[in-house]
Amino acid sequence: MAALTIRRVTPQDLDAVRRVLIETWHATYDAVLGAERVAEITGSWHSLGNLAAQVDRPGEVFLLAQTDGAVVATASVVPASDGVRLGRLYVLPTFQGQGIGRALMDEALRLAGDPDPVTLEVEPTNAPAIRFYEAAGFRIVDRSGACGAPGSGVEALVMERRRGAG
Ligand SMILES: CC(C)(COP(=O)(O)OP(=O)(O)OC[C@H]1O[C@@H](n2cnc3c(N)ncnc32)[C@H](O)[C@@H]1OP(=O)(O)O)[C@@H](O)C(=O)NCCC(=O)NCCS
Repeated sequence: MAALTIRRVTPQDLDAVRRVLIETWHATYDAVLGAERVAEITGSWHSLGNLAAQVDRPGEVFLLAQTDGAVVATASVVPASDGVRLGRLYVLPTFQGQGIGRALMDEALRLAGDPDPVTLEVEPTNAPAIRFYEAAGFRIVDRSGACGAPGSGVEALVMERRRGAG
């Protein structure tokens, strides 16, 4: 694999990060939610305005991964009432399974101060992602009816990694 660079997102990167999110969302969720609903969700959650507001937002970590200068993945970590929430972790389909997701997640959590616990939400039929998180020490702890935003209608499992938990 070409050399991997992981760094914070700047305003100049937003178009490329948005393209990664849109392509990866369609590849991951079209079969579950339908292409039209995915376009609707990603058009709103990943609008340039929304993404721009997350650059340098205090307490948040918003990263990208690049290979050969091209943006291929993104992750974000946001403060939660208890620890932090891994808000987004998306690797372009052709770059999955090469260690990029794990490296990006580890770096985002390191920059967030190695918090405890870490929680995240994952779509219940997204078995590869659930296995990825389980391999990284996360366990399913709950089910939520509104992934991402209240009223989203997107179901989610809540996963958690807590230090010292067996
Ligand atoms: C889930 C995702 C972020 C993982 O990133 P990735 O770069 O593909 O995963 P990595 O190559 O870093 O995998 C790291 C480890 O996770 C595990 N893993 C990854 N994918 C797996 C899979 N499909 N099945 C089982 N284990 C898996 C492996 O243990 C792997 O370690 P290895 O080196 O021993 O194989 C990425 O595949 C992705 O973006 N998927 C689509 C979008 C998505 O579902 N995002 C999460 C939304 S909550």
